[in-house]
Amino acid sequence: MPLPLVAAGGLMRGAQIAAVLAAGACAAQLGTAFLPCPESGAHPLHKSALTDPRFVRTELTRAFSGRPARGLVNRFIREHGPYAPAAYPQLHHLTSGLRKAAAAAGDPQAMNLWAGQGHRLARTLPAAELVALLAAELAAARASSGPTG
Ligand SMILES: Cc1cc2nc3c(=O)[nH]c(=O)nc-3n(C[C@H](O)[C@H](O)[C@H](O)COP(=O)(O)O)c2cc1C
Repeated sequence: MPLPLVAAGGLMRGAQIAAVLAAGACAAQLGTAFLPCPESGAHPLHKSALTDPRFVRTELTRAFSGRPARGLVNRFIREHGPYAPAAYPQLHHLTSGLRKAAAAAGDPQAMNLWAGQGHRLARTLPAAELVALLAAELAAARASSGPTG
């Protein structure tokens, strides 16, 4: 029996969910889309950075923890990403105090702003409303793609 395929990464709109389901995925997984929801425990600076014009792209980086993860490119990633060693969890502990201090000082340039590639399409809504909106967009995309879509 084939393994279930869950599509993930960069999905922010119902039409994208329709596309991955039409391509054969059995489910779609969304992370960043829910990050700005009031139910999310992310730091307020992290939430607002998703659509802040200062942060226009993401990058895979080891700068914060020593293990690759995708985040909004800020000063810390630009300065320390290029030489960061594969040293998890040592790097995680090394940068922990610095990241906390940056958050306390209101400086998103030294925080770990984890985000997927669709971050600029993030919408700040309660989670239940976001799910309802995504479901409506999915239904609309399916209706407009016709009986074979
Ligand atoms: C705040 C945050 C923390 C995350 N932490 C992890 C993690 O610890 N391990 C992991 O494999 N992926 C982590 N991810 C990546 C999610 O797996 C990813 O968001 C998911 O694949 C969906 O992609 P999307 O965010 O583009 O929708 C994290 C993502 C965010 C936004």
